[in-house]
Amino acid sequence: MQSVGSGPISGEISVPGDKSISHRALILAASAVGISRIEGLLESEDVLATMAAVRSLGADVKCCDDGTWLVRGLGVGGMAEPVSVLDMGNSGTAARLLMGLAAGCGITCTFAGDASLLARPMGRVIEPLQRMGAAFSCREGGHLPLTLSGPASPMPIEYQLPVASAQVKSAILLAALAAPGRTAVIEPRPSRDHTERMLRHFGAVVAVEDIEGGGRRIILTGQPELTGRDVRVPGDMSSAAFPLVAALINPGSAVTLRGVGVNPLRSGLIDCLRDMGGRIEIANPRFESGEPLADISVFSGPLTGITVPAERAPSMIDEYPILAAAAALASGVTRMEGLAELRVKESDRLAAISKGLRALGVEVEEGDDWLAVQGNGAPPAGGCVIETNLDHRIAMAFLVLGCVTERPVTIDDATPIETSFPGFAGLMNGLGASMGAAIRELD
Ligand code: S3P
Repeated sequence: MQSVGSGPISGEISVPGDKSISHRALILAASAVGISRIEGLLESEDVLATMAAVRSLGADVKCCDDGTWLVRGLGVGGMAEPVSVLDMGNSGTAARLLMGLAAGCGITCTFAGDASLLARPMGRVIEPLQRMGAAFSCREGGHLPLTLSGPASPMPIEYQLPVASAQVKSAILLAALAAPGRTAVIEPRPSRDHTERMLRHFGAVVAVEDIEGGGRRIILTGQPELTGRDVRVPGDMSSAAFPLVAALINPGSAVTLRGVGVNPLRSGLIDCLRDMGGRIEIANPRFESGEPLADISVFSGPLTGITVPAERAPSMIDEYPILAAAAALASGVTRMEGLAELRVKESDRLAAISKGLRALGVEVEEGDDWLAVQGNGAPPAGGCVIETNLDHRIAMAFLVLGCVTERPVTIDDATPIETSFPGFAGLMNGLGASMGAAIRELD
């Protein structure tokens, strides 16, 4: 796919449902007694992998004529042993959360995935789940494919997370649903809290304590009675990030994004872009199913380089590719710190961002866990092909840059975009962007 300079973009759109919340809505609806109705579910490949898995585990999931989804759950600990391998595709969230769910159900499951997922670390989930009584058989180094056997009754634990990871925290909390007593997870820095909010929405008791040094302790009371609920999924901030930055960097643009999730543990990108001088207005704040959402309006304008502190990383961990794209057009250096986790995402994102930006003609410095992008207040040259390495966010970030570069930007593979943002190019083109099959010769 190719993106060519389009001139200003404008309009009012809704982005697809939040991916993290969609996974959790399906998993908790499957763990509740009775029927849940989910509105705004993200129907992307990652979420469809979770849907297929909860069906294999015995939950009944149906799509209604009005586009909402009905889930008949089996209650806490009630999942049935699947007869075939659970294919998690590209989704680390699906794999890690479902490992937690399965560990609390006394069943044996085998998890597999695509080439990107097979390379991602699972030891961080295996370790706490083993402490809760689960047994694993996996490849050297803790990689998928792996087989997990859950204990008859998981043990409640107190667990200190070595990295701020919402996926690991959530895996432990999901396994702990079936454990007697209280399970505590301590995180060094707050990570997205969609699991905690959704657990409460379905009837669980979750306490959260702030701890010295900026971390949090999350305590779940085990064996709650979860009951079917209605869930409305807000628009995904991590998807909104692409049209948002496209409008900011494209002179004359003005875009409004309706109904976007603005959970403070997800909105670090907005803080950064505002610190860089971006004009972003937030209106109509409201709550749905325990999550805050709002309408976001963004207007193009000059940006200035900033230093993004490591403490902000968990609240915008998926937004560094698109922040780096914005930084390429800012005046001065944007330095981003505390990025070690980017090495183990859908691709090594630090390497992919540096390589892609350099190919476009941008000066970049990369350390083990930091990145510095030298912007010169003007669009980079472009005119190159970007390797996406099965990474949807690398693909979309570079297509957004192609809206403003002097020459087109081509990505080698657009199919990974389907994992999180079906209809991305169509939505962007509806605003006035120009993305489509690669037709222009690159020089
Ligand atoms: C997610 C958590 C983050 C994020 C991922 C989705 C989630 O990963 O990168 O895209 O839904 O819990 P980590 O928890 O591993 O940081």
